[in-house]
Amino acid sequence: MMKKLKLAVFISGRGSNMRSIVQACAEADFPAEVSVVVSNNPDAAGLDFAKENGLACVVVDHKSFHGKAAFENAIYDALQDYDIDLICLAGFMRILSADFIARWPANSIINIHPSLLPDYKGLDTHQRAIDDGRDQGGCSVHYVTPEVDGGDVILQRVVPILPDDDADSLAERVLPEEHIAYPEAIRLIAAS
Ligand code: GRF
Repeated sequence: MMKKLKLAVFISGRGSNMRSIVQACAEADFPAEVSVVVSNNPDAAGLDFAKENGLACVVVDHKSFHGKAAFENAIYDALQDYDIDLICLAGFMRILSADFIARWPANSIINIHPSLLPDYKGLDTHQRAIDDGRDQGGCSVHYVTPEVDGGDVILQRVVPILPDDDADSLAERVLPEEHIAYPEAIRLIAAS
């Protein structure tokens, strides 16, 4: 088998997408392994799962740095120990600067976003799709560029938006699709 991609998974909270990636990596034929989980939030619930599963965890609390550059330098420095091939943003609630992105080879940072990009970049995606009367929502895994949620899409999964949906019920329908999409996108990248 080819060498597995070494992943750094960045989280800020619940970490359910990180969990789906970790679970996929447990499959013998999955072409990647999680080398480290990075959180900007010391209280991120996802860190518990990561630690219970014996994963290396790095907490870089943005609140303890003066400015984004110092925060990002600390993340960059911490990652030097792990020989990372791909950074997977999974509910990571900090916007990475163009400088940080430029320090990595092209297309080595990806993100999952809960909308069918290029529609509904940014926050409150589900509510905005409902307010616009859309009949489809979903999620996108995409490359990260300095334009927030603006990089090329790797894959999307679509769900219907039903007449009675609110943002919570739609999010509940989209989340399981995210958990399929993220590992699948990593497979596609490994095969490319
Ligand atoms: C997901 O909906 C993801 O698409 C968005 O933030 C949420 C994170 O959820 N970027 P989790 O922390 O992976 O459970």
